[in-house]
Amino acid sequence: MIGFNSATTPDYVFDNNGDHSVDQHRYLAELLDPLTFERLRQTGVTDGWNCLEVGAGGGSVALWLAERVAPTGSVLATDIKPGLIPRRPGLTVAQHDIVNDPLPESAFDLIHARLVLSHLPRRRQVLERLRTVLRPGGWLQIDEIDITHWVAPPTLGPRVRDLYGAYVAAMTRVLSAAGSDPTWGRSAARDMKEAGLVEVDPVCWTEMWGPGSPGVGLLISNSLHLEDRLLEAGMTRSRLREVREVMADPEFRTPSFAVHSILARGPS
Ligand SMILES: C[S@@+](CC[C@H](N)C(=O)[O-])C[C@H]1O[C@@H](n2cnc3c(N)ncnc32)[C@H](O)[C@@H]1O
Repeated sequence: MIGFNSATTPDYVFDNNGDHSVDQHRYLAELLDPLTFERLRQTGVTDGWNCLEVGAGGGSVALWLAERVAPTGSVLATDIKPGLIPRRPGLTVAQHDIVNDPLPESAFDLIHARLVLSHLPRRRQVLERLRTVLRPGGWLQIDEIDITHWVAPPTLGPRVRDLYGAYVAAMTRVLSAAGSDPTWGRSAARDMKEAGLVEVDPVCWTEMWGPGSPGVGLLISNSLHLEDRLLEAGMTRSRLREVREVMADPEFRTPSFAVHSILARGPS
């Protein structure tokens, strides 16, 4: 059954209790919920399903699922820091570490995790755990980003290209140093197959980001959230300030990171 004693908590770089966490989760929801919901609809999730939302963050996906499975279904939303997940009937919120804490076997019709496993060094073992807690034939949806999938467009001048490229490279170093794999989106489908999931169906999505878009909002928010770590990773305060100004410029346009959404099923 569900436990609450984390033996070890991974060195997750962001902090749901930090000054920038509300912005972070708002931008994530604006940016990714449309794609996440489109893919979740493909599972046929409906009244009566029992769902698990792993690392629910701000809770937008957990809330959406709770509405879909009402009135007789249920959603368990977990997080190591679950304080931002809203409460509503049919939605159970648990402080829970997906690496270490127990879960009931063969219990869930649908499990969703977005931008969680890439942060966990033991992500392959977590995938195997998720397979065992799916009911036979149940659905697993993993949504992840590959932040290194970025090609500078010629419309960006050399200074902007250099600044933005340096920021993305420093962010990649920060995440990698904490055991995250910021490229994992592109490997997730392979790892899901190797964990014994079947009918693995990946899609990949990119768009253009400009000032005022949730993607750029997230990048600016993350540059504040992780400022100390970015300084340790070689950025300077003045270059961070400059890159924020560049991203807020009305002329700024960049291809987004690649977003990977992988649907799969537990073996029957
Ligand atoms: C980048 S946020 C993504 C939040 C949400 N899934 C979304 O996409 O909007 C990662 C979330 O995973 C949670 N998390 C990190 N490590 C975790 C772990 N070991 N077990 C459960 N949740 C974890 C964090 O607290 C955070 O809320």
